[in-house]
Amino acid sequence: MLTLGFETSCDETACAIVRDGRHVLSNAIATQTELHEGYGGVVPEIAGRAHVERIIPVLRRAVADAGVSLGDIDAVAVGHRPGLIGSLLVGVCAAKATALALGVPLVGADHVQAHLIAGTLDIDEDPPSPALGLVVSGGHTAMYLVPSPIEAQRLGTTRDDAIGEAYDKAATILGLPYPGGPRLDALAQEPGANDQAVDLPVRRLERGSLDFSFSGLKTAVLYAVRGVPTRPGAPQPPPPLPMTDERVRDLAASFQRAACRAIILKLGRASDALGERGTECRTLLAGGGVTANSRLRAELAAFAEERGLELRLPKMAYCLDNAAMIAALGARRLMAGHADDLTLRAHPSSSIGAASL
Ligand code: KG4
Ligand code: ZN
Repeated sequence: MLTLGFETSCDETACAIVRDGRHVLSNAIATQTELHEGYGGVVPEIAGRAHVERIIPVLRRAVADAGVSLGDIDAVAVGHRPGLIGSLLVGVCAAKATALALGVPLVGADHVQAHLIAGTLDIDEDPPSPALGLVVSGGHTAMYLVPSPIEAQRLGTTRDDAIGEAYDKAATILGLPYPGGPRLDALAQEPGANDQAVDLPVRRLERGSLDFSFSGLKTAVLYAVRGVPTRPGAPQPPPPLPMTDERVRDLAASFQRAACRAIILKLGRASDALGERGTECRTLLAGGGVTANSRLRAELAAFAEERGLELRLPKMAYCLDNAAMIAALGARRLMAGHADDLTLRAHPSSSIGAASL
């Protein structure tokens, strides 16, 4: 069964063809980084218009790369939620038109849930269930109980910034170009970078909380660079150290250490909380742009080993937004009997509900 996937939820225009909900035949992506970098973030209006211009060429590329013809497609899947509404609408319209023209079923896929299936792509067998799921991206930071590849219940989520957003903002504060996450990661790995140079906060929140908070970490980086603001007349704190190359590298490494610690700490809490109510997870499934991070990948591997979990991390090509994960989730949903029709609507928020713990 060949599924064609469409992904346009944010600033990547993507189409992919996946066989049997697992094997990726093509994964075409047109990134819009060059359109948004001057603004320091994604501009929704520009993103939506760029999707309109790019969707057909990207579709053609996905079909050509897979070595198939459109007539061979058995189903069409689309990431229809969550995301920027003007961007989602382009993919949903393109997917509906394609499914109607080809006379094949249409199925919607939740983008966040699709990130959780990315680690199963190009592998013959699914990992053992249930899984503890982690999505870390520019728009989302959350943990899930994943009873099967097409089901997820949210255990905790960020109360403010997503981790990728914190990475991008910290990188801007450090003077790195957009998008900052990968650049901050590269800097933090440079020889000599001291990840303990600055003691940055790891928010734990209330006892047992499975939520995240990254805004304090971002603000701590700001204060380390520009100095701590004080009231008039209050004693002045020491001025910040000059931003030499060495200082920027140390701050990047210290940020990366704190950000990864926050994730591992909460995964530990989630795994303990599930264990206490008799749910022993057997797999750790992670996805989203920040799973491309070198330190997080290493720390997730160590965590999984320590807890006896099978680790499924996406290949680098499937960490960032892509349509292969959408096609895979759509195909799995269709195989389980969940087809949609031409009334499918784009929606800005995710459909995944909270778990009752
Ligand atoms: O999953 P994604 O493509 O889009 C969303 O669904 O949000 O994730 C993009 C995010 C950006 O914030 C980007 O800076 C971050 O992933 N990112 C990284 C790395 N590569 C991408 N963050 C830290 N280290 C990286 N190597
Ligand atoms: Zn994403």
